[in-house]
Amino acid sequence: MLFTSVLAGLALAGAASARVEDLPRHLRLAYRDLVNTTSTNGNNASLPKIVYFGTGGTIAGSSGSATAVTGYQAGALGVQTLIDAVPEIINITNIIGIQFANVASDQMNTTLTMQLSRNISEYLAADDVVGAVVSHGTDTLEETAIMLDLTIKSDKPVVIVGAMRPATAISADGPYNLLQAVSLATYPGAAGRGTMITLNDRIGSAFYTTKTNPRSLDTFKAYEQGYLGNFVGATPRFWYEPAKVLNKPYFDVTNFTTLPHVAILYAYEDMALDVPLVSAAIASGVKGLVIAGSGDGGTDSTWNRQFQSLCANASVAMVVSTRTGDGSDAPDGDSSPTISANSLNPEKAKIMLQLSLAKNGYNITAIKKDFDSDYPTLG
Ligand SMILES: *[C@@H]1O[C@H](CO)[C@@H](O)[C@H](O)[C@H]1NC(C)=O
Ligand SMILES: *[C@@H]1O[C@H](CO)[C@@H](O)[C@H](O)[C@H]1NC(C)=O
Ligand SMILES: *[C@@H]1O[C@H](CO)[C@@H](O)[C@H](O)[C@H]1NC(C)=O
Ligand SMILES: *[C@@H]1O[C@H](CO)[C@@H](O)[C@H](O)[C@H]1NC(C)=O
Ligand SMILES: *[C@@H]1O[C@H](CO)[C@@H](O)[C@H](O)[C@H]1NC(C)=O
Ligand SMILES: *[C@@H]1O[C@H](CO)[C@@H](O)[C@H](O)[C@H]1NC(C)=O
Ligand SMILES: *[C@@H]1O[C@H](CO)[C@@H](O)[C@H](O)[C@H]1NC(C)=O
Ligand SMILES: *[C@@H]1O[C@H](CO)[C@@H](O)[C@H](O)[C@H]1NC(C)=O
Repeated sequence: MLFTSVLAGLALAGAASARVEDLPRHLRLAYRDLVNTTSTNGNNASLPKIVYFGTGGTIAGSSGSATAVTGYQAGALGVQTLIDAVPEIINITNIIGIQFANVASDQMNTTLTMQLSRNISEYLAADDVVGAVVSHGTDTLEETAIMLDLTIKSDKPVVIVGAMRPATAISADGPYNLLQAVSLATYPGAAGRGTMITLNDRIGSAFYTTKTNPRSLDTFKAYEQGYLGNFVGATPRFWYEPAKVLNKPYFDVTNFTTLPHVAILYAYEDMALDVPLVSAAIASGVKGLVIAGSGDGGTDSTWNRQFQSLCANASVAMVVSTRTGDGSDAPDGDSSPTISANSLNPEKAKIMLQLSLAKNGYNITAIKKDFDSDYPTLG
């Protein structure tokens, strides 16, 4: 209700004249806070305005040792500290900093990321806000990233950034990553590309990019689809004209506070012994299950027969992804009871399935359409 009235209010005020000053009270207050507390130089009103949501993670991490890159406290430093650590930011943008949360990746969930999506959309509705930046723990960054990519309608750039080394480490990567993220969010050529992930001088699509290594700086990759661009210093450089994932679905989360429960099951030799895991998942109330299949979605045939029959009986949607970390599963035909995740890895497929179930209920044809975005087989 709150959001509908907010959006209706903006529409009445006339979208063309909406500025941050015209936004609802809670948004203006956050903006004022920042104007009042921002650092050293102060914000420069003639620069492009962006909104920056800090959520915690390693980029805001603190350790007693300058050499520790594990075992530190994630989400220890506030958004203002992060902005102050990079004074160059104030020279490229008039930044609105908001402390959305200050937690490690493992504390983020879809209730929070849907709220983040709505908060970002509210700010992007203002004409004078040109883009948004989110800083996030890297472990589940790709899940929040695809949530934002699937639920924010604006063409304005949304950039999600993290760091692999805590702020207290020698050669901490956070400050430069943040400067690049802010620069990307203000860059006119960044519009119309969906949500982007940036770390380690690279720009990737939120839809495809995944964390490939638990510690190295060069961890966010989409082996098959590649990067959208990179940076020369803090200046973005794109390889292609603005492009979006083919037929990417959009989900309106205005009215969702929680999503249907979906779990992920992993394939391995001997999994026939573990059919009870399927029964346990169903007993816990899942509405969908994603399989991290071996190879092209493979599972033990005995397990698979029982899995399909248990799920069909309980009206649980079955999505098949791959545990290989790359590539896409062969599309399922229209009549198959299972749904191919296509190019989405299991954790991204889980978010897509939750959103699709929330929108369509248990309608396998409709869910297949959402998953067939980058490999349309249903026309
Ligand atoms: C800064 O805070 C003071 C005191 O709360 C307030 O009077 C002033 O309007 C604020 N400045 C801006 C730009 O919001
Ligand atoms: C504000 O930004 C404009 C545009 O880049 C620049 O010309 C001006 O010098 C800046 N003002 C301050 C006080 O830094
Ligand atoms: C910001 O810009 C001003 C004016 O060009 C310059 O004097 C100052 O050194 C810049 N600050 C940083 C941190 O780059
Ligand atoms: C997500 O976290 C928030 C805050 O800790 C909590 O209130 C909410 O219930 C959680 N949602 C889910 C789906 O776990
Ligand atoms: C974000 O949205 C929630 C409601 O979903 C609202 O209570 C909160 O004030 C918003 N925060 C900001 C900074 O816009
Ligand atoms: C959200 O709820 C409001 C009020 O019930 C309704 O008018 C609106 O159409 C809903 N939006 C969506 C996308 O379902
Ligand atoms: C099928 O589902 C019903 C509830 O809808 C349940 O009572 C029954 O035990 C299930 N049968 C099997 C074989 O899982
Ligand atoms: C299921 O979804 C399809 C495709 O969106 C739609 O044509 C069909 O009417 C839906 N079926 C039901 C029972 O809602």
